[in-house]
Amino acid sequence: MRRPRRNRKSEAIRSLVREHRVNVSDLVFPLFVTDGQNIRHEVSSMPGVFRLSKDLILKEIESCLILGLKTFILFPHVSESQKDSLATESYNPNSTYIQSIRAIKSAYPECCLITDVAMDPYSSDGHDGIVQDGEILNDETLEVLSKMAIAQAVAGADIIGPSDMMDGRVGYLRDSLDQHGFERVSIMSYTAKYASAFYGPFRDALESAPKSGDKKTYQMDPANSTEALLEGELDFAEGADMLMVKPAGAYLDIIKMLYDEFELPIVAYQVSGEYAMIKAAASKGWLDNDKVRDESLLAIKRAGAKIIITYFAKEFAENQKFRVS
Ligand code: PBG
Repeated sequence: MRRPRRNRKSEAIRSLVREHRVNVSDLVFPLFVTDGQNIRHEVSSMPGVFRLSKDLILKEIESCLILGLKTFILFPHVSESQKDSLATESYNPNSTYIQSIRAIKSAYPECCLITDVAMDPYSSDGHDGIVQDGEILNDETLEVLSKMAIAQAVAGADIIGPSDMMDGRVGYLRDSLDQHGFERVSIMSYTAKYASAFYGPFRDALESAPKSGDKKTYQMDPANSTEALLEGELDFAEGADMLMVKPAGAYLDIIKMLYDEFELPIVAYQVSGEYAMIKAAASKGWLDNDKVRDESLLAIKRAGAKIIITYFAKEFAENQKFRVS
């Protein structure tokens, strides 16, 4: 009889034949920066996740670096009074966001900082593009995104993440970065970002939900997979350095598809709703937080993601210290 169980008979053998492992170096930790000093505001739908002022972001990064967690993706929380229909605050060099990028990279040049290029946190319409007569404009938005990307690159961003899921972003931003002498700044493309209800808690965190309508004319239909290949081909051709799938857990087939098709690192974003579900069930004692967290991350890695953006990154790194296998 063939006995596959022989390879499972002890932890020593299981760890010997284990095909995939999640390492702290695979993880990216999202951070939300807000105005002020000494501000630490917990996001109600994301227990353990905080909007932090710049001074506390710096402390948070320092404590992560000690744990070996070195890559961060920074998002801005912008007050309603600073928003307008053209997202002008997004490229203001004195904004909290841009100042934070500068402060982080000058205090911790060794960290890798990913920044977000999208209008929605700064838009009074809560959309990722310029809105005209109820329509989200594609090409007209490019100029705003380019100014935003350059302001972030000037401040020290290592990787920019155009996250609006509209057309022609990667090529346009690659050209503007290069023209401004930022050939070394990478682009992590949101290649297959679905119009997902799993983003709910994130929009609470940023207070960035659309004021009207939804994002279905730019984010992908959860029913589609072939379209992810088309998006991948375009981003690859336009010069993306990494391709992302988002959300992660419910889209493992898409991660696998892009992994099989493209010679670029695949990034998966385990989004706010995925985190919130695990935290909520764990707080009721219905699921074991640490085990489900680790299993969810491992499944994403097994599907083909080399890099995982996750709100669990820091607690995973903290736990890792005590782990052997
Ligand atoms: C928007 C953006 C979103 C997320 C990252 N960038 C939300 C959206 O598209 O409305 C979601 C991340 C998460 O849910 O954790 N530019």
